[in-house]
Amino acid sequence: MKPHSDSAVHFDTLAVHGGMAGVRESGSHVPTIDLSTTNPLSDVLTGGDSYENLATGGDLAPGASAVYQRLWQPGVARFEESLAVLEGTDGAVAFATGMAALAACLLATAAAGKPHVVAVRPLYGGTDHVLATGLLGTTVSWVDAAGIAAAITPTTGLVVIETPANPTLELVDIAAVSRAAGDVPVLVDNTFASPVLQQPALHGATLVLHSATKYLGGHGDVMGGVVATTTEWVVRLRQVRALTGGLLNPFAGYLLHRGLRTLPVRVRAQQDTARQLAELLDGHPALNRVHYPSLPGQDPQGLLGRQLHGPGSLIAIELAGGYDAAARFTEACRLITHAVSLGGVDSLVQHPASLTHRPVEASAKPNAAVVRLSIGLEHVDDLAADILQALAAAQEPDEPLDEELVRAAEPFAQQQHA
Ligand SMILES: Cc1ncc(COP(=O)(O)O)c(C=O)c1O
Repeated sequence: MKPHSDSAVHFDTLAVHGGMAGVRESGSHVPTIDLSTTNPLSDVLTGGDSYENLATGGDLAPGASAVYQRLWQPGVARFEESLAVLEGTDGAVAFATGMAALAACLLATAAAGKPHVVAVRPLYGGTDHVLATGLLGTTVSWVDAAGIAAAITPTTGLVVIETPANPTLELVDIAAVSRAAGDVPVLVDNTFASPVLQQPALHGATLVLHSATKYLGGHGDVMGGVVATTTEWVVRLRQVRALTGGLLNPFAGYLLHRGLRTLPVRVRAQQDTARQLAELLDGHPALNRVHYPSLPGQDPQGLLGRQLHGPGSLIAIELAGGYDAAARFTEACRLITHAVSLGGVDSLVQHPASLTHRPVEASAKPNAAVVRLSIGLEHVDDLAADILQALAAAQEPDEPLDEELVRAAEPFAQQQHA
């Protein structure tokens, strides 16, 4: 199947039918889950050949044995094939988690004698942490997007960006970054957008990384990571996976492949609700700022529409009452669960400065007044009611209820029940 960018078949259809080759012919409606850790070999010579081919990052040859699950797993390969089509890349390589996927990219880069990484903050806290500590043998230069070209040295192996960025949804121009990076591969963490809203490879990115744990899985019940990329990088990353073992398990592969089938519908429905909530909250007296890409003034580079097809379903709010109010708000949410992660069917709230971005050095840490909301598939009225009651509860505990906050909730309630 060809990438959707130049395919006659629509994205939603590709999402439903991708990675299904041979399933119907096998007499099944959905792929079966193959739990084999090892696979029979027909003879010593071809078994050894297949082992060598797979351990060095090759494709499973027609009729050849998959040898051993660490080298090749058929259900995982289905997920990879489908995701690559949606991202418009040559292929994809799946890992046990998003961090395992990132680690493989960093190890491959360092092993090729290019250990220097140029990175633009903000990034997910774990990504920031692994780069800042140099745990995997890389060094990092932190720059803003305009400083990328000047930061590149002969040993630079990767430029790392995230857009929309975790947690405050800043947008980075992928095409401009790719031009500035020249021959250096650009890695874009596309977790927040998913391929429904953004296909970084179409703008020049070489590596498109997902924490598949989030939107791709979509139900908060499976961990995974994946990198959609060029044939050359597929080989390098498969080799790292085969030799370091950070592979996706068969059941996770099945769930992630299944998740892709409903991805467009979930992402758009969650986005519709998030957009209404962001507009409702914008200008709320208890908030200094609502971070959401489609709100006025939040996309100065005009990337919405050109690069990002929609603002997504994450909202970051900055409480006027600072850290204390942010903590009280987070703890006061009832329908929305106070828990890390994002992108699932149920809404989550978390305080980035103390949780996801805790390891980030003080100068780059998100504002402690910021809370991140991941909007799910609940009804917008119920989410609005929960957020507005939590904002009221976030006032000083002994302060009388602020009449302004109560009034702010009224127009929305009237509009919904009109
Ligand atoms: C943007 C982003 N990238 C990467 C990761 C890491 O993914 P995982 O938790 O699947 O290892 C996360 C996790 O929250 C994330 O939010």
